Amino acid sequence: MKDKNVLLISQLSKAGDTPVTLQGWVHNIRSSKALIFIIVRDGSGLCQCIVSKEDTDENVWSDAESLTQESSLRITGMVKKDDRSLGGYELHVQSVEIIQISTDYPITPKEHGVEFLMENRHLWLRSQRQWAAMRVRNQIIFAIHQFFQKEGFIQMDAPIFTGNAAEGSTTLFETDYFEEKAYLSQSGQLYGEAMAMAHGKIYTFGPTFRAEKSKTRRHLTEFWMIEPEMAFFDLAMNMDLAEDMVCFIVEKVLENSRQELEILGRDISKLEKVQKPFPRITYTEAVELLTGPKTSTLLDGMEKEALELLESIKIEIPELEAEHGKAKKGRKFQIDRRLKELRASREETEEKLRNIPVWRKSATEKIWGDDFGGSDETLLTMHFEKPVMVHGYPAAIKAFYMKRDPENDKVALGVDMLAPEGYGEMIGGAQREDSLELLLERIKEHGLDEETFKWYLELRKFGTVPHSGFGLGLERTVAWICGLPHVRETIPFPRMLGRLTP
Ligand code: 4AD
Ligand code: MG
Repeated sequence: MKDKNVLLISQLSKAGDTPVTLQGWVHNIRSSKALIFIIVRDGSGLCQCIVSKEDTDENVWSDAESLTQESSLRITGMVKKDDRSLGGYELHVQSVEIIQISTDYPITPKEHGVEFLMENRHLWLRSQRQWAAMRVRNQIIFAIHQFFQKEGFIQMDAPIFTGNAAEGSTTLFETDYFEEKAYLSQSGQLYGEAMAMAHGKIYTFGPTFRAEKSKTRRHLTEFWMIEPEMAFFDLAMNMDLAEDMVCFIVEKVLENSRQELEILGRDISKLEKVQKPFPRITYTEAVELLTGPKTSTLLDGMEKEALELLESIKIEIPELEAEHGKAKKGRKFQIDRRLKELRASREETEEKLRNIPVWRKSATEKIWGDDFGGSDETLLTMHFEKPVMVHGYPAAIKAFYMKRDPENDKVALGVDMLAPEGYGEMIGGAQREDSLELLLERIKEHGLDEETFKWYLELRKFGTVPHSGFGLGLERTVAWICGLPHVRETIPFPRMLGRLTP
């Protein structure tokens, strides 16, 4: 298999004046009388390979002609630099070795519905946008490790099978552990706290599970979480760290994933604004913002914009439909595309217009003590160009382990970081309760089983110290950075309500 002439498409700049072999799949193919253009992808990029009838053998031409979308092949030829070409290089083909001809590949260049694509996720991963999103995900993962390692953190792993709930008992996946009840971990945090008492600063990076019955664009039932936990950190230090980490991640993506962001059509200028310091507001201030005139004005603007857009769509659609009958083939194709876009946009805008009154009601009726819903978070983030940190939540709506504000027992020293552009909560964290007596009280208040938390309570018995940590949801981070509307495209094989395959 090893062949010294094989080169990755991403390394075509290294090609000299000897033939090069690419190995991969046919992304796209089109032909004219004298030329066949094969776009080959090999996982590292795309390259246009040109077969000329005049310059190649008859059998090379006929092999090339038989290729179909997603056929696998090795293809050899001379690399030519061409700035107009995809990726800056093209291959002038001398020979083709077909590995397999693929027939009836289901994902064609025409558009498909998202349910169809999800059913074909195992193949959809090959598409350009999905390819780009997964590469950004990889870059984010790498940046997270770089960040924590340079900051002196130790990466440690928390178990997946657990005997206790970390984040409330309503979203637990129960499983049978040799006739004993076990749960899939909702968070590695409690174990992270034990590790931090051994190593000072640690982070876990693993899958977590929530039996979320809600079908939203932010919820998966299986997602990856990064959870740093630090001894001798208070809430302010915790927020500083979260801010530094997010800035570092964005910086690395901007540095290394430009091409991918371009494929995704991401507005880079928005990411470039993600610089320290991030706004920090209290929960109380967030409630004031939601119920105040600024949010009302924001909603008015959104409504006006949506109505105007709908108006213009309603004019353009019948115009195009009228033109369609008389149009030539090429133009017809264009019109069909545009109509599809317009209809999708009409549907989206109509939904937005139905949602705005609901959002308005939720925001304006908010009173101190209420939790924020998805729409409230969306509205909050729209007041800021950077991620915003909301801290000091009502203790009653937060987890049992959060320390209370020494100045106000109703307030927990918890923080959420909300991603801009409407993405919402990306990080949840807190300073932890470090007093044995108070923690015991909380466990009882929350109706949790003291026995299963015995080990966790012992952390407060043997050398307790103030400590803090947070959890970053990887998929929500990827969605925001890539500008993807739904978390289902941010993980190779998403698990959500109603989806267990492929
Ligand atoms: O806010 P959460 O529930 O916090 C915790 O689990 C803490 N124990 C973390 C800690 O302090 N160590 O979850 C943290 C983050 C959320 O902000 C969100 O980004 C993500 O995890 N998340 C989800 N992502 C996708 N689908 C879901 N169902 C998610 N639930 C939480
Ligand atoms: Mg949370």
